[in-house]
Amino acid sequence: MTESIYLALDFPSWQEAGRFLEESDLYGVPVKVGMELYYREGLGIIEKLKQNNHKIFLDLKLHDIPTTVMRAMKVLSSLEVDMVNVHALGGSEMIQRAKEGLVNGNPNFDTKLIAVTVLTSMDQKVLNGELGIPGNLLDTTVSFSSFAKEVGADGVVCSVHEAKQIKTACGENFITITPGIRLVDSNVNDQKRVATPGFARNNGADYLVIGRSITQAENPRRAYEQAVAEWEESKCN
Ligand code: C5P
Repeated sequence: MTESIYLALDFPSWQEAGRFLEESDLYGVPVKVGMELYYREGLGIIEKLKQNNHKIFLDLKLHDIPTTVMRAMKVLSSLEVDMVNVHALGGSEMIQRAKEGLVNGNPNFDTKLIAVTVLTSMDQKVLNGELGIPGNLLDTTVSFSSFAKEVGADGVVCSVHEAKQIKTACGENFITITPGIRLVDSNVNDQKRVATPGFARNNGADYLVIGRSITQAENPRRAYEQAVAEWEESKCN
């Protein structure tokens, strides 16, 4: 096991997520809980996962007016999970208030605040044509990361292809989490900017989020082990 790979628990209920963890012998690995599971199960899912010693990244991607996000973060701070996140697109004031909510809500626990830069399911065409954000995608993610860091974010979710430049701009200690990971032989699905675990690590990723490459594998335990092996083998200094 490694502390660096978060398994995306994208299941519709605890019954299914729990069964998957048990049948795949994956109890105790770091997990990412997203909207689907959290909206169904609520706060209780966090307790259940903690009982089984999982590190937890609560991926709810908050994006609202600053006061609302601050108050929501106050509530989430009591869960004492390892990481929570907001959309960088919410702007610097929202991120700053999110941090305020986390810190004031639970001064004794250091939940990391992560900002989502540009979703890895998006590409340059969507960024410019649909969202109307000019410039190239890489510059946008670096600039989102920089203002997020300035107002208190501990790190970002970004694509593998941006992690290195983000580290250069924001420093080695600024956390980079990269989804869009595919093991050799697995399906790309709806992700557009994908890479392998080894490539991700060599390109500056601190943590990986991996979902379907493991959950939809014929043998999820083996796929998880393959991801860990690829990650470990690519250790670079
Ligand atoms: O199945 P797959 O490995 O593509 O899962 C990726 C996970 O990472 C999903 O749970 C998705 O919500 C999440 N994610 C992402 N891109 C981001 C942030 C989170 O794909 N920028």
